[in-house]
Amino acid sequence: MKEISLHNKTFEIYITSDEILEIVDSIANKINNSGIKDPLFIAVMNGAFLFASDVMRKITIPNTEISFIKLSSYSGTETTGKVSELIGIEGNISGRNIVVLEDIIDTGITLEKIISLLKKEEVADIKVATLLFKPDAYTKDIHIDFIGKSIPNNFVLGYGLDYDEIGRNLPHIYKLKNE
Ligand code: IMP
Ligand code: MG
Repeated sequence: MKEISLHNKTFEIYITSDEILEIVDSIANKINNSGIKDPLFIAVMNGAFLFASDVMRKITIPNTEISFIKLSSYSGTETTGKVSELIGIEGNISGRNIVVLEDIIDTGITLEKIISLLKKEEVADIKVATLLFKPDAYTKDIHIDFIGKSIPNNFVLGYGLDYDEIGRNLPHIYKLKNE
């Protein structure tokens, strides 16, 4: 499937499932070699569910844990600028070494919200890993430790990423086709 149509928009293939798995491997290797101890991974739902499940299977650090939070900021193909917390942080995570797992970092508004939630919990350390990063859209100074691939400012979907909730199940990543 080179092209697909969702909600009356056309998308073309951009990153194949094989390339995605290579990117995931490289991120997992970097995390494994980073020296982080007893990590608590926090995957940001819904978008990061496939990335998290693939990357976690490659993590070899002892005493690795994973938890989930659910945030939402996008409506259609644009950010609303407001982040709602749909499922918050569970349990006591003070003193933990956190690795945030994001599908994509765009403006950074969501990341900023996550970092402020984690700081309130008095965690020991926060590292950020994202499959995709849009440097031209990024407006924050927060350091991103592990970046899978930097991409231009195009809307993408598939492999967990949605367009108004559909497209998350696609194995490849597609980008919006310019008509
Ligand atoms: P930010 O807060 O602007 O950095 O946006 C982050 C969130 O918006 C991501 O976690 C995604 O869920 C969503 N998002 C940003 N860009 C895209 C995109 O191109 N396709 C689908 N979702 C996106
Ligand atoms: Mg997301």
